[in-house]
Amino acid sequence: MIEDMLRTPAAVQDAERHTAHNYHPLPVVISSAEGAWVTDVDGKRYLDCLAGYSALNFGHRHPTLIAAAHAQLDKLTLTSRAFIHDQFADFCRELAALCGKDLVLPMNTGAEAVETGIKVARKWGYQVKGVPADQANIVVAEGNFHGRTTTIVSFSTDSDARADFGPYTPGFRIVPYGDLAALTEAVDEHTVAVLLEPIQGEQGVVVPPEGYLPGVRRLCTERDVLFIADEIQSGLGRTGTTFACEQEGVVPDMYLLGKALGGGIVPVSAVAADTNVLGVLQPGQHGSTFGGNPLACAVATEVVRLLATGEFQRRSTELGERLHTGLRGLIGKGLVAVRGRGLWAGLDLDPSLMSGREACERLMERGVLAKDTHGSTIRLAPPLVITEEEIDHAVAQVAAVLAG
Ligand SMILES: Cc1ncc(COP(=O)(O)O)c(C=O)c1O
Repeated sequence: MIEDMLRTPAAVQDAERHTAHNYHPLPVVISSAEGAWVTDVDGKRYLDCLAGYSALNFGHRHPTLIAAAHAQLDKLTLTSRAFIHDQFADFCRELAALCGKDLVLPMNTGAEAVETGIKVARKWGYQVKGVPADQANIVVAEGNFHGRTTTIVSFSTDSDARADFGPYTPGFRIVPYGDLAALTEAVDEHTVAVLLEPIQGEQGVVVPPEGYLPGVRRLCTERDVLFIADEIQSGLGRTGTTFACEQEGVVPDMYLLGKALGGGIVPVSAVAADTNVLGVLQPGQHGSTFGGNPLACAVATEVVRLLATGEFQRRSTELGERLHTGLRGLIGKGLVAVRGRGLWAGLDLDPSLMSGREACERLMERGVLAKDTHGSTIRLAPPLVITEEEIDHAVAQVAAVLAG
């Protein structure tokens, strides 16, 4: 197509004109999608290797999820939690069963699930553990990414996320990720929780050393501290198991879930924990107008059912092996390291070759969408419906970009 007949340049400009510049998107304007593929306003197709930061684990417009959404749209969309609706019980029961926990508390965004986890941990600390009023602390990790609220950015170590948003919420201690000795040192009698991503996604798909998560579990049990696993990006099949913690045989006290829970259709997040933890909340103490709404529950219940089959976890394990084998073959050919689990990979580029942003732009030109992070790292997190051939295609495009 002749360059000046393309709709993309004008559509990119148009999209920028009336928005705050809190994102720096790749210059692609998507208008439709199916499975692992998206199509732009000029009809060009791209293999989606970001999958909405794992919000699209089941691909774009998974037929079962779309059918559930359509059916629910025709019946009931919102009640608020002032009333009970008929999609609520199934969702809560089935998600609690998937998590192996007694209770769930539905919210909307990931950040809200994290905020909920923090509030519940503090209340648990005061009411169950017996921490003196307003003395609770929560230990978190360097390089964390848990969302964008003022409290959450208070314990971020990323200056872009944090700078000029103070005053900051107190009550958090930051220790190096993967360092059990430092964590042990930081925990004291007023510690109510350790809040961690089992794999740090935004940091570049950083997998902690083997034994770290079981060590955190042991420490938390010994010191009467809640282990809160932020599985918002790592959970729901991404790493080859329902939860990334499972890879190390670890069960946290609280799961924070989001992204894929909404099936790529609606924002749905949740906290799952046992009654001795989530039971500390009483009416009026926490909530959200949209949390647990009928449309969200109808879609998310089907998400839980898809996960209960085990098919997506299996695909992630098997296809992830293929992805990682392919990518490891590029170490020394433009990549300096590849990390990750399942269909989730962080690729460190040789910084002398190009930046992560440049690599993503070149991948985009070759019809593959991915996202850079922290300078020279790119993340690949394709939908779990991706095929072997599509993985080989993605790896071949990465190889071609690295080869210049
Ligand atoms: C691990 C983790 N926690 C929390 C969040 C925040 O989720 P949301 O953007 O839905 O608020 C994210 C988003 O990327 C995340 O990766």
